Amino acid sequence: MQPASYHLENTWSPDGGPNGRLTFTLVNLSDAPLTDFRLVYTSLTRVIDPKACDNAVFLRRNANFHEFTPPAGLSLVSGESWTFSVSGLNRTAKHCTDGAKSAYLTLSDGSHVSVSVSDLLLEGRVSAPPPVLLPEGKLDLPFAIQPWPATIDAWPGEGFPVVLYPVKGTDGSSLKAVATAQALFHRLFPANHAPFSLIAAPQGRRLRFVERPALAREAYELTFSADEIALAYSADAGRLYGLTTLAQLLDGTRREPGKFRFPVAGTISDQPRYGWRGCHLDVSRQFHPKENVKRLIDILAWLKLNIFHWHLTDDEAWRLEIKAYPQLTSTGVLRGPDEPLLPQLGNGAEPVDGFYSHADVREIVAHALALGVEVVPEIDIPGHSTAALVALPDLADGQEAPESYHSVQGYPNNALNPAVEPTYEFLGKVFDEMVELFPSDYIHIGGDEVANGSWLASPQARKLMEREGISGTFALQSYFLKRVKTMLTARGRKLAGWNEVAHGGGVSTEGTLLMAWEKPEVGIELAREGYDVVMTPGQAYYLDMVQAEAWQEPGASWAGTVPPAHTYAYEAEGEFPEELKDRMKGVQACIWQENFLSRDYFNRLVFPRLPAIAEAAWTPKAGKDWERFAAIVRLSPAL
Ligand code: ACM
Repeated sequence: MQPASYHLENTWSPDGGPNGRLTFTLVNLSDAPLTDFRLVYTSLTRVIDPKACDNAVFLRRNANFHEFTPPAGLSLVSGESWTFSVSGLNRTAKHCTDGAKSAYLTLSDGSHVSVSVSDLLLEGRVSAPPPVLLPEGKLDLPFAIQPWPATIDAWPGEGFPVVLYPVKGTDGSSLKAVATAQALFHRLFPANHAPFSLIAAPQGRRLRFVERPALAREAYELTFSADEIALAYSADAGRLYGLTTLAQLLDGTRREPGKFRFPVAGTISDQPRYGWRGCHLDVSRQFHPKENVKRLIDILAWLKLNIFHWHLTDDEAWRLEIKAYPQLTSTGVLRGPDEPLLPQLGNGAEPVDGFYSHADVREIVAHALALGVEVVPEIDIPGHSTAALVALPDLADGQEAPESYHSVQGYPNNALNPAVEPTYEFLGKVFDEMVELFPSDYIHIGGDEVANGSWLASPQARKLMEREGISGTFALQSYFLKRVKTMLTARGRKLAGWNEVAHGGGVSTEGTLLMAWEKPEVGIELAREGYDVVMTPGQAYYLDMVQAEAWQEPGASWAGTVPPAHTYAYEAEGEFPEELKDRMKGVQACIWQENFLSRDYFNRLVFPRLPAIAEAAWTPKAGKDWERFAAIVRLSPAL
């Protein structure tokens, strides 16, 4: 990459304000003088007191977009720099990713020029380097299986077969399953030797498929001998998991023969601990092309996860094509200096966009289905709706004062208004298209982080509250979500949402599944109220959280520090009273992408914590072993 003509350095000091002070230095690396310009940067550490600003004039902020201008008459010749500081911050910085993520200049002719930025440096304290988070690990049994199976009683052999091949007379459906497992392996590890062959190979080992209806749908049993392996299963899911285990065993042995071996005798009898083994991906903050989404689904299948929760909309973009409202994926995805949606979260002078067409969605859903992964789509309503409201401004109450409330992320007036009747017509059409695209039992409707105070300055909302005899933001939210639930029920779907769906009266618990994210105790409370629950607490399962306290460790930290060892050891079921345990349907990783500016960041934060959650979702508590996990997880594929 060529260096930009302008560069921004930033430092944070704990002194200089209640949440410390950010100091920025813009360096002119171009050959020409720089005059008469404005500077924009995006930063999750936000300026909330525009007056607490030294040697610059604060012009405006929208969420994490910040715009400043230098003191009048400032001119920087080549090599010169301008330094300014801001101290009215919304929170303290804790890590190197808490500063400017991107920047650009707007020149006097209105053009925009890229500015490169560096990691946030720490002033006044030691900037600790990131620690090693994954030990070498230790194996009691030399088998490379992820997640670790429920029961294993197998003996390692000397050497290993060149391939595994179905016995003569294997039915077409099992042959197709082998081809599916083989194709998955090839996509994940294109340079590694194939684990299967559809024809007999002299140095290979026979694979016999045995239908055993008594096994659960996702269960399988492998019986090893020197010349044959039997794979017992009752349904497609268990058969594919058995094949995946075989591919992992063989691949591990091939890659690290001193460490891993292939079984020559004994059995593996396996089934998952939980029915809901999910991974969520936020594609609103940062877009992923459909190839990345499919690869992530491949990784989920490899780790025997079975739910892909696709967070398709948020304040920053609405990524799902809705043919009835093309504006959602034109205006509603385009972030740029001169667009209604401003640059955020690492965007610079160049506009960015990206959405999934109906054809893309169908391809992704079919890809997942073939691997036993269900795609649960989310549109995040009523909060987190800036992109939808910018695309469809008629959905706002025109009489509501601007900036009458702000979301926790700093977006003004960002919630669909329960009193604006066309909102329901809009959602009806969106749901009509979603149920055509997604065969999942559940549609996830978000329901999180509606700011307390939302809609209270809306005359239409006030009238509705009077008519319905309700008061307050969350009673209105409950009114809205009950109508949404009715709309989903009419379309044959169940409602999934974040834990705040229960606020203000909530919705009927019948067929409603909520995700406990704010803290673990919330999950128990929801179960007590009668909701089905999936545990996704930020303190253990949010993969955007930092993995160590060191300043140089990247990531968010509002839910604390989440080392891989903690994610692995965390027992979501831990505090659930016995009588509520059957309401706890499973666990889920969440990949929020505010901080994920590159594939490298993605991989650094997602691994090994995603495989750790996969093991927590699958392996019985008594079978969890961090040292063993650490020894095997290095073989995991990355995005
Ligand atoms: C959430 O993290 N707002 C669900």
